[in-house]
Amino acid sequence: MCRFILLLFIVKSVYCQDCYLSKPPDFIDECKIQEKNFINCSTKSIQKLFDKLNDGIPGLNSIKSFDPFHLNRIKISQGNSNAINLKVELSNVKIIGFGRTNVLESIVYPKDFSWKTTFVLPVMKLQGDYNLIGRILLIPLNGRGQVFLDADNMTIIMHSKTRLYEKAGFTFYNVTNCDVDFKIDGLKSYFSNLFNGNKHLEDSTNKFFNDNWRMLADALYSVITQTIEDVLLDVLKKIFHYIPANFFISDIPTPEELYGKSQFKEKGHTE
Ligand SMILES: *[C@@H]1O[C@H](CO)[C@@H](O)[C@H](O)[C@H]1NC(C)=O
Ligand SMILES: *[C@@H]1O[C@H](CO)[C@@H](O)[C@H](O)[C@H]1NC(C)=O
Ligand SMILES: *[C@@H]1O[C@H](CO)[C@@H](O)[C@H](O)[C@H]1NC(C)=O
Repeated sequence: MCRFILLLFIVKSVYCQDCYLSKPPDFIDECKIQEKNFINCSTKSIQKLFDKLNDGIPGLNSIKSFDPFHLNRIKISQGNSNAINLKVELSNVKIIGFGRTNVLESIVYPKDFSWKTTFVLPVMKLQGDYNLIGRILLIPLNGRGQVFLDADNMTIIMHSKTRLYEKAGFTFYNVTNCDVDFKIDGLKSYFSNLFNGNKHLEDSTNKFFNDNWRMLADALYSVITQTIEDVLLDVLKKIFHYIPANFFISDIPTPEELYGKSQFKEKGHTE
């Protein structure tokens, strides 16, 4: 009997794609979207959620590590201005800092249950392998090596789109999109092997990037936002397929109430 239960437990924790929390966890606060202080309440609740992500949300094994966070690959092409004409590929990326997130504001729009979330990462460090070709700040580059970025006080504004769905009598968020914008107070950077081993050029270019960090941040804007969006979308999808939206917003409508019966049915057929 014991062995059987143990086996069930193992099977459940390995194949837990459809698992969900069925009781409100103590690490978040339930808020009411109809109430005046909703934003205040929601901001605190989302802060608690971020804090909890550090040691892991019990039962949610698909997020292996939040801080550091690991990403396999990011590929970006941008070429829409004179200063920037760049193809970058990052791999084996490690991002440090999400564990110290300060949530400033968490807004949920009752019209479509999309979110606007503002938060600060006092420290955000990224390291990984890069492969880039193009120009940064008019300097022609074609190299591969390691990159280190170290941003101070990164303020992120995240717009998330969601689609509500029903599972086991609860309303869940399907987080379908994350769009981020950021500003920073400083950026230190280091690219190894920028000019195929020409140490002199490499050193002077790295110094130039650090002296002109605002321009470098602008040049790398798409790379950085894409990276953050990939991290957050992945994590948020997993969290909100696991924790019912009712535990964040006790008066959240059902999908049927929000989208209307016919539209909901139609959608159900086509998906
Ligand atoms: C939330 O409300 C409390 C009490 O009304 C207030 O003291 C606090 O400053 C508010 N916090 C935010 C983030 O607005
Ligand atoms: C969530 O949305 C995606 C499309 O963005 C869809 O493929 C997926 O089936 C949806 N999941 C659920 C559980 O509704
Ligand atoms: C980051 O923000 C804190 C608090 O606002 C401030 O004290 C600190 O000087 C900022 N860091 C930088 C590098 O500007």
